[in-house]
Amino acid sequence: DETSLERLATDLRPADSAVALTGAGISAPSGVPTFRGDDGVWDRFDQGQFTYGRFQRDSEGFWADRVELQRELFGGNYEPNAAHEALAALGRRGPLEAICTQNTDGLHGETLESTDAESDPAILELHGNARRVRCVDCGNRRDADPIFERAEDGELPPRCECGGAFKPDVVLFGEQLPAAVIQRAKSRARESDVFLAIGSSLVVEPAASLPRLAADAGATVVIVNLESTPCDGVADIVFREDVTQVLPRLRELVESVD
Ligand code: APR
Repeated sequence: DETSLERLATDLRPADSAVALTGAGISAPSGVPTFRGDDGVWDRFDQGQFTYGRFQRDSEGFWADRVELQRELFGGNYEPNAAHEALAALGRRGPLEAICTQNTDGLHGETLESTDAESDPAILELHGNARRVRCVDCGNRRDADPIFERAEDGELPPRCECGGAFKPDVVLFGEQLPAAVIQRAKSRARESDVFLAIGSSLVVEPAASLPRLAADAGATVVIVNLESTPCDGVADIVFREDVTQVLPRLRELVESVD
């Protein structure tokens, strides 16, 4: 509500370092399906078909299923929404230093194509980026679209020139998360004055532990999410509201300072 927003804006303005953690809920208004909550992706797709173990065991079958999931998740050519834009603005002109995202849709990156790149917030992709694929042998990264076209034409799995199989450049269940990125996200959380958890159910690690890390380090913790989360107890402020209502209003309040 408005008073909480004004209080948060008052905390944010002088903050040295604010950090945001985002989940599928920030991209939902853009049309990207969420994983949980009503009509979540995992109600329609079997999560067990997309594990790293299955990719290693049966990369042909994995790719046949992944083609369907990729179309479901990203087939809509989605655009960033006002919540993405508000975060980018809070980064360029405000205290937001980093956006740690669990999303693999690449939408935060699209809002940062500004000229003064050095003032952009850092984007930490905790779960990788589904717009890329990566060769498991030589590590080459490629744009995902043409490779998915080859898979749709029957090349399962699609292979790199070196002969290795391509893998979507996202963290699969059971796969090691990129340790360096996770460590950076944890230290950002610890150093933050204000920590904003936006559009995440906060049930998947390591994201779920970041709000607690920030709270233990004395940060003001804010959660914006339509449903309750296991971290609501450590938050100073919880907005049980739509991200496209809260974030643009917060941006206005922070920018309205004369
Ligand atoms: N405004 C605010 N919150 C919203 C909105 C909205 N417009 N739309 C959805 N939400 C909330 C939902 O209530 C839900 O709690 O966003 C949350 C999204 O939660 P999940 O679907 O679980 O997404 P996320 O938290 O990002 O999942 C984490 O799980 O499946 C893995 O790797 C996948 O990155 C994903 C991870």
